[in-house]
Amino acid sequence: MPPEATTAQKRFLVTSALPYANFDIHLGHLLEAVQTDLFVRYQKLRGNTAVYVCADDTHGTPIELSSLKRGITPEQLVAQVHQDHIRDYAGFNISFDIYGSTNSEENRRYAELIYENLSKNGLIVEREINQYFCEHDKRFLPDRFIMGTCPRCKAQNQYGDVCEVCGATYEPTDLLDSRCYICGNAPVMRKSKHLYVQLGKNEKFLRDFIETTGVLQEDMRNFVKSWIDEGLREWCISRDGPYFGFKIPGTTDKYFYVWLDAPIGYISTTEKWCKEKGQRVEDYWKSESGTEIVHFIGKDIVYFHALFWPVMLKYSNFNLPSRIQVHGFLTIQGEKMSKSRGTFILAREYLDKIKHPQAPEYLRFYFGSKLMPNSSDIDLNSTELLNRVNTTLANNIGNLHHRTFVFCDRYFEKKIPDAHWDEAIATVVEHAALEIAGYYEKCEYKSVVEKIHALGSLGNKYYQDSKPWELIKTDTQKAAAVMVTCVNLIKAIAVFLKPITPDMSGRVERQLGSVFTWDDALFSLRNKALGATEKLIKPLEEEDLAPLFTAATAREQQGKEGLLEIEDFKAVDLRVAVITGAEKIEKSSKLLKLQVEIGKEKRQIVAGVAAHYSPEQLIGRQVVVVANLKPATLFGQKSEGMLLAAQNADGSLVLLQPERGVTSGAKVS
Ligand code: MSP
Ligand code: ZN
Repeated sequence: MPPEATTAQKRFLVTSALPYANFDIHLGHLLEAVQTDLFVRYQKLRGNTAVYVCADDTHGTPIELSSLKRGITPEQLVAQVHQDHIRDYAGFNISFDIYGSTNSEENRRYAELIYENLSKNGLIVEREINQYFCEHDKRFLPDRFIMGTCPRCKAQNQYGDVCEVCGATYEPTDLLDSRCYICGNAPVMRKSKHLYVQLGKNEKFLRDFIETTGVLQEDMRNFVKSWIDEGLREWCISRDGPYFGFKIPGTTDKYFYVWLDAPIGYISTTEKWCKEKGQRVEDYWKSESGTEIVHFIGKDIVYFHALFWPVMLKYSNFNLPSRIQVHGFLTIQGEKMSKSRGTFILAREYLDKIKHPQAPEYLRFYFGSKLMPNSSDIDLNSTELLNRVNTTLANNIGNLHHRTFVFCDRYFEKKIPDAHWDEAIATVVEHAALEIAGYYEKCEYKSVVEKIHALGSLGNKYYQDSKPWELIKTDTQKAAAVMVTCVNLIKAIAVFLKPITPDMSGRVERQLGSVFTWDDALFSLRNKALGATEKLIKPLEEEDLAPLFTAATAREQQGKEGLLEIEDFKAVDLRVAVITGAEKIEKSSKLLKLQVEIGKEKRQIVAGVAAHYSPEQLIGRQVVVVANLKPATLFGQKSEGMLLAAQNADGSLVLLQPERGVTSGAKVS
């Protein structure tokens, strides 16, 4: 049920999972941050309190190994990466209230507290196990410090916990031909004592938590239930030193496993924020504080959040999560993102390679238009990104905005005229506000966007049917009513979109001279001066996206196949052609429309050479073209082939041309 506008103020503590500090932020992280940010911004827009907490996850063997590779200390690595992460998220307007780090004294204190309370309540047991030890480096070799042959598929050079070839998971001692990751020597087996949390003692508590509280969405609930049914195993929370992390009190050389102190970072970072803001951490994290804790996570880390974490919280009397919102994985052009295969896009690459100033906001919009409250994977497809942005934002909402404001400027002296709005449309918006609120509450953002699109279409149809350009000559008052209605509808749309596209809504706010809260969605404006008209949306063009997506696709191809087969090369039909005509394309600074002849065959080719050649320079030249490329449409112009050109380091292009005159249509090989 959508909430009533009058319900008492709620308090939320909202988190995204803490990214590891050994790697840059990529678009998968951003999918999660956008999903969280939309929720937080929506709650704030409603007048609720929502604190958005995130941090870097800084401990454990991957961080230690990365710093080893770079020849710096883990502390140095963590400090560098922290700055990069903050900068990358800021590029997408992610509105963290604080972005902290798990490598802090606050986090150590809470980790010790939670551990002591588990211990006091008899949840911790010690067990002796066999473990690899490197006599050369004088250390135990946990997880990623050991390499060897996969016991299942016999693939070489696999880590101690998982085989990247066949996907098997195992214990480090199961590896064949194992050796130390650092020095390559064969390890010896030693006995070592480790600490375990007896999760099984909490079977009933966890069952109730998962089955009765509604903390998980449906698809995940059944999944987690099946894990409980299979039996809850003991969880090893200690690692031998040296280990980049927190020493376990009362042991000589044991450290907390990174996954123990990682989620505790949610609490310690909240405390840091509270100190800065003069607030009390108890008001957020003490059980019965009345605060709703909402975690946004990917489907790979559900076990930690739904089973380990509640048990950790319970014995220290902390607030349990009200909601664990689980999303699926991001794929790029239908392919899985994978660090090892190099098929992922970094946040930084997106920001640097797409020059369009609204591109970061368009990604927020795109993710919003795809996200539902389930764990299905989500694909980022460049054509779909372009289409969704242009269809809904540019052609629908941008168009309604443009024609309305231009009309008010022209015929009503830059004012919203004084007339009464169309009641039927005001009522539609009132109902839409309730419906959209319900979608936001459930994180059903795809439906939010669809509903907003429908309102835009309704506005454009109303404008079209009312014909204000005719009314203005016959009945000014009626024309005025149409404008008042359209302005109020645009205001409502800007309110509804504000969590998704805050910059764009900010432009409407400036024009209308107010900062919107949720209730501003209702019709209220007439007889008011308008601020300067700012263009709301610049459409996306294929050439905006090409630099990012060709790079990603090329890397992917390389990663997959390595070298090109001669057969594949032969499949490219290269021909000599003559340029017989060339002209500029309106609205594009980069493209020229060319007429070419390949032998007797006439073709049209759209080429991105306008910045390097004038049309006159090209006519009459022989060039090399790809003759069997799938036809495409660019800026409404058909393109049936591609010109070959070489690129200088400064980006300038030089066309390839036969060294001497050749028969037109000659094959190049
Ligand atoms: N450090 C842990 C989380 C600790 S939370 C107490 C971790 N870090 S991570 O950097 O690997 O992932 C951070 C979040 O990003 C996780 O929720 C993860 O599911 C999400 N994603 C990582 N790659 C992703 C995609 N390709 N697509 C969508 N989300 C993905 O896990
Ligand atoms: Zn070694």
